[in-house]
Amino acid sequence: MTIRRLPENLVNQIAAGEVVERPAAVVKELVENAIDAGASQVDITVAEGGRSAIVITDDGCGMRPDEITLAIERHATSKLPDGDLVEIRQLGFRGEALPSIGAVSRLSITSRTPDAPEAWRLNMAGGQVAAPVPAAHPPGTRVEVRDLFYATPARLKFLKTARTEMSRVSEVIKRLAMAHPHIAFTLLDGDRRRLDLPPEKNDLFSARLARLAAVIGRDFGDNALTINAERDGLQLSGYAGLPTFNRGNSAMQFFFVNGRPVNDRMLFGALRAAYRDFLASDRYPVVALFLTMPPPM
Ligand SMILES: Nc1ncnc2c1ncn2[C@@H]1O[C@H](COP(=O)(O)OP(=O)(O)O)[C@@H](O)[C@H]1O
Ligand SMILES: [Mg+2]
Repeated sequence: MTIRRLPENLVNQIAAGEVVERPAAVVKELVENAIDAGASQVDITVAEGGRSAIVITDDGCGMRPDEITLAIERHATSKLPDGDLVEIRQLGFRGEALPSIGAVSRLSITSRTPDAPEAWRLNMAGGQVAAPVPAAHPPGTRVEVRDLFYATPARLKFLKTARTEMSRVSEVIKRLAMAHPHIAFTLLDGDRRRLDLPPEKNDLFSARLARLAAVIGRDFGDNALTINAERDGLQLSGYAGLPTFNRGNSAMQFFFVNGRPVNDRMLFGALRAAYRDFLASDRYPVVALFLTMPPPM
C-alpha cells in the first residue's frame, strides 16, 4: 500500500467536519474568539440559519495583518503562551476553528489593533488564501462566513431547516451570554432582531442575575434562590429555581464550568437527585449554576 500525506486543505476540510459541524458551532467558535479577545460588545448577524451568512463583529484587541495570516493556519493560537495544557484560562486553544471554517466556506477576516492607522482584510475561500489588503474598519475584528459548506456539499445535506439552525445559534449565544454578563450581545436574524442584551454593570452576582433575567425571563429572579457554596476547592454559585417554578423538560437547566457552558449528564443527574424530594419525576427545575475549580482538577 502506498502511504501518502494528505494535502493541508483536505486535512482542514476533514477537521471542519468535527470542529464546525453546523452553523451554531461556527457561531460558538467565533463568539468565543471575540470573548477571548476581550470584547465588550459582540454583534452577530445570521442569514438563512447561517447557511448563507454569519457575520460577527467585536471591539476586542484585534489583529495585525501578520497575525491574521497566522490565525488561519492550522494549530496557530495565541492562547497557549507557555504550551501548558493544564492551565487553560481562555475558551479557545486548539487553533483549529479559523482554518477549518476557511476550508469549507468563503471566509473574510477584517481586523484592526487599537493603535493601528487602518484595518486589514484577509479573504479565504474553500481553503485558498489571498494576501491581506488594507480595509476600513474601527479597532476590533469582523469575521464574515458566507456560503458555509459550499466546498463540502455532503455536509450541506446534514443541515436542518433555517429555523432549526437559527434556534441552535440563538441557544449557543444565550449560553455564552449568561456566562459573560458584562459583555453586550446582539443577534440579528436577517434584519430581525432576535437578542439584544445590554452590558450588565455592577458586581458579578447582580450582573449575572440581570443577564439571567434578560435571557430566561424576568420571573426567574423572583422564583430562584441564590447559591454560593464552597467545598474542597470547588465553588458553586448561581441561581436555583424554586420547585414550584418548574418545566416539562431540562431545556432551562444551564450549567457552566469555569465560565464554559456545559451539558454534562452527571451534573443533570446531581440536580435531579437534589430536587427529588420536592418535584414530581417528570418535572424539571430551572437553574443556572456556575462551578468554578482550579484548572488542574
Ligand atoms: N475576534 C478575534 N480577535 C482577536 N484575535 C482573534 C480573533 N479571532 C481569532 N483571533 C486570533 O486567531 C487565533 C486563532 O483562532 P482560532 O482558530 O479560533 O484558534 P484558538 O481560538 O483555538 O486559538 C487566536 O488564538 C487569536 O489569536
Ligand atoms: Mg477559537
